Amino acid sequence: MFKWAKWRKKGEALECISSPNERVKCYFVLKNSQVVYYVYKDDKLIIKPSRLGFVICGETPLDGKLELVRMQSKKVKETVETLWGEDRYLNNEYSEAAFYLAEDINENRIYTVRFRVFDDGVAFRYEIPPQPKFQRITIKDECTEFNVDVNSTVWQIPAFQPDRYEYNYEKCLVFEIPGSVHTPLTMHTPTGYYISIHEAALYDYGSMTIKLNPAHILQSDITPLSDGTKAHLLLPFSSPWRVIMIADSALGLITNKMTYLLNDPPTGDFSWVKTLKFIGIWWAMYVGEWTWAPGVRHGATTEHAMEYIDAAVRLGISGLLIEGWNEGWEGDWLENGINNKFTVATPDFNMEKVAKYAKEKGVEIVGHHETVGYIDNYENQLESAYSYYLLNDIHYIKTGYAGSMMTINGRKEYHHSQLGVRHYQKTVELAAKKHICLDIHEPIKDTGIERTWPNLLSREGARGQEYEGGAISPSHACILPFTRLLAGGMDYTNGILDITNNVKRMATTVTRQLAYFVTIYSGMTMAADRPFIYENRFSDLYRFIKDVPTNFEKTVPLAGEIGEYYIVARKDRASSDWYVGGVTNENPRRVMVNLDFLDEGVYKAEIYADGPTAHFRGDPYEYQIDTKHVGKNESLDIYMAAGGGFAIKLTRENN
Ligand code: NOJ
Ligand code: CA
Repeated sequence: MFKWAKWRKKGEALECISSPNERVKCYFVLKNSQVVYYVYKDDKLIIKPSRLGFVICGETPLDGKLELVRMQSKKVKETVETLWGEDRYLNNEYSEAAFYLAEDINENRIYTVRFRVFDDGVAFRYEIPPQPKFQRITIKDECTEFNVDVNSTVWQIPAFQPDRYEYNYEKCLVFEIPGSVHTPLTMHTPTGYYISIHEAALYDYGSMTIKLNPAHILQSDITPLSDGTKAHLLLPFSSPWRVIMIADSALGLITNKMTYLLNDPPTGDFSWVKTLKFIGIWWAMYVGEWTWAPGVRHGATTEHAMEYIDAAVRLGISGLLIEGWNEGWEGDWLENGINNKFTVATPDFNMEKVAKYAKEKGVEIVGHHETVGYIDNYENQLESAYSYYLLNDIHYIKTGYAGSMMTINGRKEYHHSQLGVRHYQKTVELAAKKHICLDIHEPIKDTGIERTWPNLLSREGARGQEYEGGAISPSHACILPFTRLLAGGMDYTNGILDITNNVKRMATTVTRQLAYFVTIYSGMTMAADRPFIYENRFSDLYRFIKDVPTNFEKTVPLAGEIGEYYIVARKDRASSDWYVGGVTNENPRRVMVNLDFLDEGVYKAEIYADGPTAHFRGDPYEYQIDTKHVGKNESLDIYMAAGGGFAIKLTRENN
């Protein structure tokens, strides 16, 4: 065990912050005006000495003999009740220490580094108060290091690329990381620990990507603005939390809620927010049957919308997404998006009529705004676009930001830059004011702000099923739970059962599509295939899609390895039912699902699983549905085909 001495003399400090169970220890060091931290779990050095700090434009470096002038610490232990999500109750328990630093020469500038040490990781942030000569600042660079073992295995996707986060993960060693990569950045260390680096509470600042610095240490690389700087700030400023999740196993990362918990509780009343499952005038466009643009095959016509509303009623599903109803989709919509109109319907679509019909039938319409990243155009219409939906009693909107860059104030900016972050936040706050829930595609990454803004029900923010048809392999959905999904829920557009459609041949079996409703959580969950597929072709499989909830009481990850397979159980928030989902990569496997997680009593298990000859490339439709009666001391022996998966509904029989 590392021995540490606490000492403090002028200009020097060494302090240790221990997690509640004392297994995680974070050390804060100030020496020669350099602020450094390092982290142990048990007796293993997880993060080697790593520098903290930033460079401010036009200011001398903050190295004018820094002193630790004050340290404040506290312990917090509370239970947080969520409004919706994967778990109703979360344990928020940590040790906090704030280090107040001041220069004793030069400008007498001050700033604070605040740490929170949890049993499953460490977080810290910078806080800069306003000070006499220092009220507005521009961040040139943030130099936060995460000095992990460079021989760790890492699963990464590149940053600053045209498709934002929508890439396949590459597995390599940390020292092989090719450029800047996105977070959550998940690693497996040679000593056997799993780490994921992310950020929490990202507001009014560039999003953090990670790169290797010249010393071969992982370091923050904040998404720049078009002027090359990282952020223009009006003090006081609190940076997003830098989050280091630490687990003994890959599965141990899944229950890490630090990102969510590092955000503030909501301030207003959000009891009106309800999670939603919906179908959509959507996949028919992807498989070439309909088009977004008006014409003979236009999807979003009044007639189609009313037919889909009727189908939603028959299918017992609460919502309907309608894409392509407004002006702006003609021709090359990616090129022409600058003129999109968000309150003008195409001539063959009558919004009032459709909305009224949906209301009568008890179906929630999910409106759609495809901005194509033309933020100036969108923000000019924002107030009226949201009011237009409200007038039609529409309380859910899916937004989209296709295109490689945003146009903000006439300039090209990254989606993840400070200006992009500000824009997304503006939509979330306006939507909250108007009692509208959002599902953001091409979003700013999730940093847990849905704790503060529960109307932000979901986001995309990774490669989703729209890339099927060649660009997704079965391992992708076995990597997501350990990477992207550590940040929060994702709209993966689940439930596409017409696997062998002519346009986008899917790398999946049918029962795997059911599993996604459990393995990939989303507060707004799409059952993405066309209704006739559910009604006519797979009404037996559809039963699971209809039953599975979008709001859970409790989540229990059962087994998994990154990129290999993943199995998770979740209990419904509104009943005593449990649901289990499992997915595998291109390797078939047989798994024993231990039912320990169940409450007492006998459960009816409806098991939707791959048949013995199913294969994602061969026969994706070979499945079997079995019913068994089981209890908590039993296990279920389940087979997953190559690229397959399974889903189980467990209903308590003697309530
Ligand atoms: C990309 C989104 O991810 C997708 O869901 C949407 O249909 C298209 N953009 C068009 O808005
Ligand atoms: Ca997308």
